[in-house]
Amino acid sequence: MEILNKKETVIITGGAGGIGSACAKILKKHKLIITDYSTQEVDKAVEKLTEEGYDALGIACDITKRKDVDKLMKFSMKQGNFGGLIHTAGVSGSGQSPKKVFEIDLVGTDIIIDAFHEVATKDSVLVLFSSIMGHTIPPNSEYDAALLNPQKENSFSTVAKFVNEDADVMYNFAKRGVLLLCKENAFRFGRKGARIVSVSPGVIMTPMGIKAAEEYPERMNKMKELTPLGRNGTPEDIAEVVKFLISNKAGFITGSDILIDGGIVTQLLKEG
Ligand SMILES: NC(=O)c1ccc[n+]([C@@H]2O[C@H](COP(=O)([O-])OP(=O)(O)OC[C@H]3O[C@@H](n4cnc5c(N)ncnc54)[C@H](O)[C@@H]3O)[C@@H](O)[C@H]2O)c1
Repeated sequence: MEILNKKETVIITGGAGGIGSACAKILKKHKLIITDYSTQEVDKAVEKLTEEGYDALGIACDITKRKDVDKLMKFSMKQGNFGGLIHTAGVSGSGQSPKKVFEIDLVGTDIIIDAFHEVATKDSVLVLFSSIMGHTIPPNSEYDAALLNPQKENSFSTVAKFVNEDADVMYNFAKRGVLLLCKENAFRFGRKGARIVSVSPGVIMTPMGIKAAEEYPERMNKMKELTPLGRNGTPEDIAEVVKFLISNKAGFITGSDILIDGGIVTQLLKEG
């Protein structure tokens, strides 16, 4: 028996992206709200899903703007029977400034958590996206306090001291922040009977993963060699786990992270 009944609404941020699209594809039983940064991309994604028989609506939203996120939540609540939100929207360090990565990957996630908490009811579920790279950053009381409060004025500058102006390194810190926020929010979500979980993908062949493979071919080949399962992941590898996490089969899982990485984190941490 699934807790999310047939027409419960599920929001997918980054719904026009690689993992977001795969999540949409696997949730045919639900009413889908596809959201992404660009209206054009949202419209394209919704049109494709509708042609394929999905019950999908779209609305553009910049997840770094609370006003946009509130509009998204209001729009979604109007569809009735709210079930969950799969927050895949994010950027890698490539071509971005550390500030932009911090804003999109961490501040955006914190905004989504706050907005979701306001509407969360019993059995609703929020799935966040961290990364294997978040697991490579060790605990530290100074930056962890900032990562846990990304919307505070000095948080960016506190974390920036540790990243040497490198947006890729900021990505790793922001994704550690997602892991911390997931744990930190479990209690207040639990009081409402709602769950919050995160997933940490390994190297996944989406536009983001393909770009990384093109930019850093050596590093990416080494990552594949190091992966115990000997291959990169597919968006569908991630979507299957997300589908499980939003179902009542995962009804006792909250405040924790699931690595979906072919085992590579074990090797990365060994290498140091
Ligand atoms: N692909 C990988 O190898 C990999 C590995 C680890 C973690 N992840 C994480 O998984 C998630 C999904 O990644 P993906 O591979 O599908 O990437 P993707 O680039 O295919 O999709 C990300 C989507 O987020 C959207 N987005 C970016 N900024 C936004 C904003 N401000 N507001 C709204 N939408 C915005 C983009 O437009 C894009 O459609 C990300 O959080 C990423 O960090 C990916």
